[in-house]
Amino acid sequence: MDFTGKHILSVGQFERADIEHIFTVADGMEPYALRQQVTRVLEGAILGNMFFEPSTRTRVSFGCAFNLLGGEVRETTGFKSSAIAKGESLYDTARVLSGYSDVICMRHPEEGSVAEFSAASRVPVINGGDGANEHPSQALLDLYTIQKELKDKGRKLDGLRIAMIGDLKHGRTVHSLMRMLGLFDRVQFVLISPSELAMPESYIDTARSQGHDITVTTDLAKNIGNVDIVYSTRIQEERFASKEEADVYRGRFRLNQAIYTQYCEPNTVIMHPLPRDSRADANELDNDLNHNPNLAIFRQADNGILVRMALFALVLGVTDQVHKTARPVNWFHSRSVNN
Ligand code: NCD
Repeated sequence: MDFTGKHILSVGQFERADIEHIFTVADGMEPYALRQQVTRVLEGAILGNMFFEPSTRTRVSFGCAFNLLGGEVRETTGFKSSAIAKGESLYDTARVLSGYSDVICMRHPEEGSVAEFSAASRVPVINGGDGANEHPSQALLDLYTIQKELKDKGRKLDGLRIAMIGDLKHGRTVHSLMRMLGLFDRVQFVLISPSELAMPESYIDTARSQGHDITVTTDLAKNIGNVDIVYSTRIQEERFASKEEADVYRGRFRLNQAIYTQYCEPNTVIMHPLPRDSRADANELDNDLNHNPNLAIFRQADNGILVRMALFALVLGVTDQVHKTARPVNWFHSRSVNN
């Protein structure tokens, strides 16, 4: 697929070859992400970063990715600081902001809102998460991370064994990741959650019809022993009617070093889209895993830059010009501190 000028709204847009192409472009972004080289390929372009829900990684990494390609970033965060608080429609906001930007990234609490916005936008829109629905750029960076982490272990996306743990009902990252993995062959999904927060049937039915193997369970210890990846998630408190309702489920599925050592195969890769909820009553991924070399969560977050740079380069049609404007970095390389 030619991504130039296209919205990126759903993982359903991608075929396997598209994903492989995005990953090749992402690999080429490494010298810039590592600050070994500078490119100015998007000089003069403006990213409109519109985040109507809390975000650290997605918002900042989209912004940094755009900056690293030489573009400028303008941001709106939250409803209060936007004219939507004055009753402006998504249509009007999209018409106006797409006049100010060359590409827009948007996160919004309502399912389908980013697609609605994109229908009125004059420039490509990238979905940074619409409610519990989709998070396509996260699925891409998760898949990119899985592939990278498993390469040295001689395992691939085909035949992957993955346990997804936590709030699988509301988690848009696991929804998008499951759909995207569905494009590969013979994936074994182990879906571990409280029964009330189980993966919606539609995702399970689709994966089954594609020939994948699916186990649905409420038991963590017995089901993390034969997987390549454990993908932990946070209870999505903001999707519950009240904090008290979310509290019921917090802390149910915790992974720490002792549990990992006892139940996981050696070298099982640990992932989490972040933020992990490190409050004592939740703590789904304990800090005592921080020095476990298989904890991939920060490498996963770093990979977000590469994948998001690739998306911008593709959507703005500059993949073959990125390196033409490359030059060396001439400031002190501070990224080796505390590595
Ligand atoms: C996730 C999200 O917003 O869906 N975070 C992210 O983008 N990395 C996961 C979460 O908030 O739990």
